[in-house]
Amino acid sequence: MKNNINGFSKLSKEKKIDWIAQNYFSEPEKATQLIKSYWNADTKLQQLHDDFIENTITNFYLPLGLSPNFLINGKYYTVPMVIEESSVVAAASKSAKYWSERGGFKTTVFNTEKIGQVHFIFNGDKSKLETFFTKIKAKFHEDTNGTTANMQKRGGGIVDIVLKDKTAVLENYYQLHATFQTKDSMGANFINSCLEQFAKTLKREAVHYSDFTSDEKDIEVIMSILSNYVTNCIVRVEVSCPIAELAEKNIPNPKEFAEKMVKAIRIAEVEPYRAVTHNKGIMNGIDAVVLATGNDFRAVEAGIHAYASKDGQYTSLSHAKIENDIFSYWMEIPLALGTVGGLTSLHPLVKLALEILEKPSAAELMQIVAATGLAQNFAALRSLTTTGIQEGHMKMHLGNIINPFEANTEERLIIEKHFENNTVSHSAVVTFIENLRK
Ligand code: MEV
Repeated sequence: MKNNINGFSKLSKEKKIDWIAQNYFSEPEKATQLIKSYWNADTKLQQLHDDFIENTITNFYLPLGLSPNFLINGKYYTVPMVIEESSVVAAASKSAKYWSERGGFKTTVFNTEKIGQVHFIFNGDKSKLETFFTKIKAKFHEDTNGTTANMQKRGGGIVDIVLKDKTAVLENYYQLHATFQTKDSMGANFINSCLEQFAKTLKREAVHYSDFTSDEKDIEVIMSILSNYVTNCIVRVEVSCPIAELAEKNIPNPKEFAEKMVKAIRIAEVEPYRAVTHNKGIMNGIDAVVLATGNDFRAVEAGIHAYASKDGQYTSLSHAKIENDIFSYWMEIPLALGTVGGLTSLHPLVKLALEILEKPSAAELMQIVAATGLAQNFAALRSLTTTGIQEGHMKMHLGNIINPFEANTEERLIIEKHFENNTVSHSAVVTFIENLRK
């Protein structure tokens, strides 16, 4: 294979760029120049970013935007969001302002428990395994004392470890199912370190357990890893107001609006094809804050979508009802987040984002993230059930369509003015620019 290479990771950054430019580009110079144009002039800062991952060649920019006026439990937040989709920050800001005039978001964190599991195969007598587990349980705690001491000082640690019999779903399959409190850290490293020690303890103690046969002594640990399905790390966010108060310039008939919103959510509750897109809109808000605050959006995504299927069918994360002329709209989601450790202490812009949020605890960040998700969903449903999304979306996208034409300021103003009252589409903008330049 032409583009195969051994030892790529050992090459210097310059050599890696040389290799990629020579092998994949007809104009290697141009490619090299583009890659290097995204380097930061501050070499220390660049080194910091280079070191986040392996084989770094440059930086990949995404915009960091701000969504102000989020009133959550009586406190105002300006929410930092990292996202490429043009309409998301505008939509979140619009919803935040709207709900800040109607009592704001009310949020509650139900629990912040994290989960980790040691998955193992035990070929033997289940009751003997249960007795063994009870006898050695304290050793799991003793053997992880070194790892847990700091976390305990901060008020966290191992909550419990239970033995789970999973043999009904897989032959000889058992788990050590452990729960943790990790305070303001997301806790992945802490949890995985504890679990790997549990696995060692389990194997070591089994070998010395005299009641086990030789087969039973030979416990096979398959893996030890945290779960991103944090079903006991849940935040609820809600907004509500009398239907009449939903009225504003673009909502002339609030009763009709509220009823249509409830129906739109009902559709997402019963129809998975719609639910996925509905929840994607929620994730527009969630991921953007999760990214800006240096958290693991893949973990959050995986956990939330699993939660959306917890009753056997993928469904809407948000819900709404009208009762006694009050419109209530809410969502409950699992969120494992951190505001200390990991990227939060390394990435200067993550630190900045957390400062903008006034250095929240992990539990406070859960509430901010959930509120942004619901705000985003509200904005999407509001557009979808009234004007449709394309009008606003394409207006926000106008700049992206203009960019390749390198319009000057004067041209830009003319184009923007024209499309204030005309439908934005790619071809309409292109034709307009071509005519303008004739
Ligand atoms: C687009 O990024 C998100 C929406 O499709 C969400 C939705 O349909 O609810 C507008």
